[in-house]
Amino acid sequence: MTQKIAVLPGDGIGPEVIQEGVKVLEATEDAVDGFKMDLEEFPYGANHYLETEELLPEEGLEEISKKDAVYLGALGDPRIPTGVLEQGILLKLRFYFDQYINLRPVKLYPTIPCPLAGKGPEDVNFDVVRENTEDFYVAIGGRAKGKTEEQLEISRSIFEAKFDLDIEVDKDEIAYQIGVISRKGAERAIRFAFDLANSKEQKRLVSVDKANVLSHSYSLWREVFEEVGEDFPDVETEFSFVDAITMWFVKSPEWYETLVTPNMFGDIITDLGAMIQGGLGLAPGGNINPEGVSMFEPIHGSAPKHAGNNVANPLATILAGQMMLDQLGEEKAAERIDQAVVDVLEEGEVRTKDIGGSSSTSEMGDAVAEKVREG
Ligand code: IPM
Ligand code: MG
Repeated sequence: MTQKIAVLPGDGIGPEVIQEGVKVLEATEDAVDGFKMDLEEFPYGANHYLETEELLPEEGLEEISKKDAVYLGALGDPRIPTGVLEQGILLKLRFYFDQYINLRPVKLYPTIPCPLAGKGPEDVNFDVVRENTEDFYVAIGGRAKGKTEEQLEISRSIFEAKFDLDIEVDKDEIAYQIGVISRKGAERAIRFAFDLANSKEQKRLVSVDKANVLSHSYSLWREVFEEVGEDFPDVETEFSFVDAITMWFVKSPEWYETLVTPNMFGDIITDLGAMIQGGLGLAPGGNINPEGVSMFEPIHGSAPKHAGNNVANPLATILAGQMMLDQLGEEKAAERIDQAVVDVLEEGEVRTKDIGGSSSTSEMGDAVAEKVREG
């Protein structure tokens, strides 16, 4: 079967890292019998928006719907107000395709320097399952007091925001944003996490929340966690507050195998996770709808100041490609990429700047692709 993949290189370093990711996928196609792909590139991102005022049109979504997966570089550009591309493209894709799981493995690869003293690859190797459609990401909120209806309308519709807003300041103004947890939304993410935890040797699942303060929404989260847990008697469970988790990730990462958490905290703790696995250059993520179109991306952003310099580490994107193949059921091809990354790192000749070397983005891509071909 041919895997149809939509490729969205995006902005900043996105196109450079995606090019290397695609290079490695193509090498895998050559090396692994029976694995075939058909890639189609889509232009959505900053340049396309500036040229056409179009973020992600309905036709684009329809085309992407016909694919088996999406491979995304990065989005974000200093010429465009913050939030426009993120909400109009990245979050739009996550929501449109109902990618309700954001799976973020935190895995320290061999030879990668870990900023935690005395910790190595055997200590840092866990999965964060981040709920990906709810919580504070539902965009329910508003601003009130002190503005005319017309001014409010402009603030609300961030996509149409004028670049030079000049709204009078009123000291009484308030803003509010609501976090939503639904029973269904929590259940599907938590069940996915229990399944994952149950498939591992060390069956431990930690739920991360802040139910001591945000007790309306996260008490429902906890209730659902306990209910679903009844179906998994072999999985040892634990609740942890998010502030404590930031401490424990640093102190005892070896305790963690699988974690599950609502959207916002998942966003935050996975940047911390990326650091303890050696930096953003190494952290991939999958936006997964197990029954639909999933999307894979490095969790880093577009890093505009490095764009065009061929210095960014493409490994996060290459590993996102590996996750994509795994999700598509191409386990053999996925395993080949993972092993190639390990081999290149262990040989140590090709290393990008962020991991203590001087190799370029494309040299790293070439090295991994070559290893994939060698097998
Ligand atoms: C991430 C990013 C996004 C998020 C932003 C860019 C909308 O930080 O993928 O972690 O908050 O999910
Ligand atoms: Mg983030």
